[in-house]
Amino acid sequence: MLHIVDHPFVRAKLTVLRDCTTPSSRFRECVREITCFIAAEALRGVELESCRIKTPLAETTGYRIAERIVFVPILRAGLGMLEAAESLVPGSPAGFIGLERDPVTKLPREYYCKLPEATPRSFAVLLDPMLATGNSLAAAADLLKRAGFHRIAAVTIISAPEGKKVFEARHPEIEIFTGCLDERLDENKYIVPGLGDAGDRIFGTVHR
Ligand code: URA
Repeated sequence: MLHIVDHPFVRAKLTVLRDCTTPSSRFRECVREITCFIAAEALRGVELESCRIKTPLAETTGYRIAERIVFVPILRAGLGMLEAAESLVPGSPAGFIGLERDPVTKLPREYYCKLPEATPRSFAVLLDPMLATGNSLAAAADLLKRAGFHRIAAVTIISAPEGKKVFEARHPEIEIFTGCLDERLDENKYIVPGLGDAGDRIFGTVHR
């Protein structure tokens, strides 16, 4: 299931990201800002445990995150979201998945995968700004499941209907949280209207 995080700040920040005149430094900053909103929604159902603490005035009950959140960016664009996601749950471990398109099959092929141990209380959150064809996100979820993660969510900034369909068919139980569901993919598999190549814009390489 795909959830659109329809917050006015998300809409305003999406506009900055889509604007082709936004410089790379601001783009990167804005990716971090919007990731906080979307990732916070993805973690809304996280389990808490209560604890007793003292304020300067009295003893009271507080809450701590009881699950072990593991953020997993898909290289390279997902890296731009990691710091912001991690700021929500400081000290959480991170895993990394690198996928590239096989020139013959055109399907994603793993070139790097480094994941922390999957413990019974682990909740893995995939980070990838663009859900385009859905093949990479679905392949990354396959890797997480193979590594023993059972509780998984995905955070994207913009999604395409084509990617939503592919991902939901392969991983119907994994919830996706996104900033917007755009119109379609173009012939090069870019999301329209989208924001161009997220990795290039985050890291200041080529502008589209
Ligand atoms: N990846 C991107 O960076 N942009 C798209 O539009 C699609 C995939």
